[in-house]
Amino acid sequence: MHVAQPLVSRPTDISVDSLAEQMTLAEKIGQMTQAEKNSIPPEDVSTYFVGSVLSGGGGNPEPNTPETWASMVRAYHEAALKTRLRIPVIYGSDAVHGHSNMRGAVIFPHNIGMGATRDPELVRRAAHVTAREMMAAGVHFNFAPAVSVPQDIRWGRTYEGYSEDPSIVVPLGVASVEEQQNGDPRVLASVKHFVADGGTKWGTSLTYDWIQGNWQAPGDSFSIDQGNADADEATLRSVHLAPYVAAVKAGALNIMVSFSSWQGTKMHANRYLITDVLKGELGFSGFVISDWMAVNQIDRDYRTSVTSAINAGIDMVMVPYDYKLFIKTLTEAVESGAVSQERIDDAVRRILRVKKWLGVFESPFGRDDLLASVGSAEHRAVAREAVRKTLVLLKNENNTLPLSKNALILVAGRGADDIGMQCGGWSITWQGDHGATTLGTSLLEGMRQVAGDSAEIGYSADGQFEGSEKAEIGVVVVGESPYAEGMGDNGNLKLSAADQELVTRMRERCSKLVVVVLSGRPILITEQLAQADAMVAAFLPGTESQGVADVLFGDHPFTGKLSYSWPRSIEQVPLTALKQHPDGPLFPLGYGLTY
Ligand code: BGC
Ligand code: BGC
Repeated sequence: MHVAQPLVSRPTDISVDSLAEQMTLAEKIGQMTQAEKNSIPPEDVSTYFVGSVLSGGGGNPEPNTPETWASMVRAYHEAALKTRLRIPVIYGSDAVHGHSNMRGAVIFPHNIGMGATRDPELVRRAAHVTAREMMAAGVHFNFAPAVSVPQDIRWGRTYEGYSEDPSIVVPLGVASVEEQQNGDPRVLASVKHFVADGGTKWGTSLTYDWIQGNWQAPGDSFSIDQGNADADEATLRSVHLAPYVAAVKAGALNIMVSFSSWQGTKMHANRYLITDVLKGELGFSGFVISDWMAVNQIDRDYRTSVTSAINAGIDMVMVPYDYKLFIKTLTEAVESGAVSQERIDDAVRRILRVKKWLGVFESPFGRDDLLASVGSAEHRAVAREAVRKTLVLLKNENNTLPLSKNALILVAGRGADDIGMQCGGWSITWQGDHGATTLGTSLLEGMRQVAGDSAEIGYSADGQFEGSEKAEIGVVVVGESPYAEGMGDNGNLKLSAADQELVTRMRERCSKLVVVVLSGRPILITEQLAQADAMVAAFLPGTESQGVADVLFGDHPFTGKLSYSWPRSIEQVPLTALKQHPDGPLFPLGYGLTY
């Protein structure tokens, strides 16, 4: 029976120890549970003492606005405060490039582009804007930064990694963690995915066999995502662990475990790396969270899965659907002795310490005063600057760039006028989408704004322009359709046939041809490079594509340097193959022209 306790009257004096001592097993296991908002009604946060709620990719309220986000999240905060001990819930989301699920939020370039800037200060400013837009909606917990070090660009999460080189990832990952956690507003950064998510081998993903029985993902989907990394321990440490060592030193208080395996063992069951290395050797004092239903992949028997994961050192489980089953299973595991009371107490203390540090006992809610700043001109200006600095100039012959503001310019390619495509995955929806998915400026609109009235800019998505006279300048925007984890695994990395034909058509039509590539990774452009006078890698710039126009027209310089090496052909993929290939890359890591 629960004895009514006085409400915590001076929350700043909250003592984690005395709170933990008062907690029942149900309250403790509740804290260790993270459910998804589409599964859990707010009242179950009260009933089951749930410690965290998340929005998965695209887990948005309907309609999707900053105000509906704020009230959706507030209902969970209020529910948590109805529990006996009034322990606040923290709400999590993938604000991986801005608070990018929320329509109207500013969307920054994906990490691959931020890697090209090599600019920790810029990463900090982007993280600050992101934290403001998260907190406007009451979201305290960000599943970012990814500090993946992708070694195989066929991986559909390549763009989530700053670079293939850990020495580029480390300072940018640290900057993101520090600004999120020490800035104002403060949010909890989740550093992910621990560890070697970027080191998996093509063809080793078992995900859909495991979860969905015989379900076959289309094409190459789930070929490498969630697969196995077979690196030896020295490589694991020097390439993939390095960003965690730095992030923990910088004060990181949350780490998300990877779906992937290391040497055949699921990371979620890897006690050595999670408990001995991360919590022991590195001295990580925060809490470890599992990835989306990843615990279920450990074993076909759910009880075994839960027991292994908690005993490996996972403190909070992103369930995300059947939280009642998770709670029941973990409770039974504790009662039977399969999971010790000490392990539960350690997990709960870690979670409570982080909540105390985060300040949610004093201020459990979001910051309504920040709602007006969502998508503001000030916030967008930071993203526009970021976009400029991400761009890498791959080729520039015949004085093609910068473009003149007094010219007739023919713009082609669906990517030129497609906000969804320039945002990529993890934007409004999990996989992202084409079209006007959110508020922002397309590249075409940006060019028209920046060039002003003196330029004449014509547009045709498929490059069909009236007349047959050659235009002085053509700009063709090609690249990848949006994708995210799993679905974005791609074994050929070619431009679509339509994009290839478009470049050829525009080549014939224009005296000088600029090709802008929108992509989440290096793709195969060797033939188009020969056709173009100038070529720009723009990666996935997000909502503020005027930044691309600023640089194309020469108002700002090109300063970006490739954060991944760019292969000539698929034979040069993955990175180990490229390193052994006699021809060398099309462009090496660090390449980038300037003007
Ligand atoms: C992804 C994580 C993400 C989580 C919540 C998972 O599928 O791997 O990166 O944070 O979902 O959306
Ligand atoms: C969710 C994502 C999650 C994924 C994992 C999706 O439905 O929206 O957040 O990462 O499932 O399978």
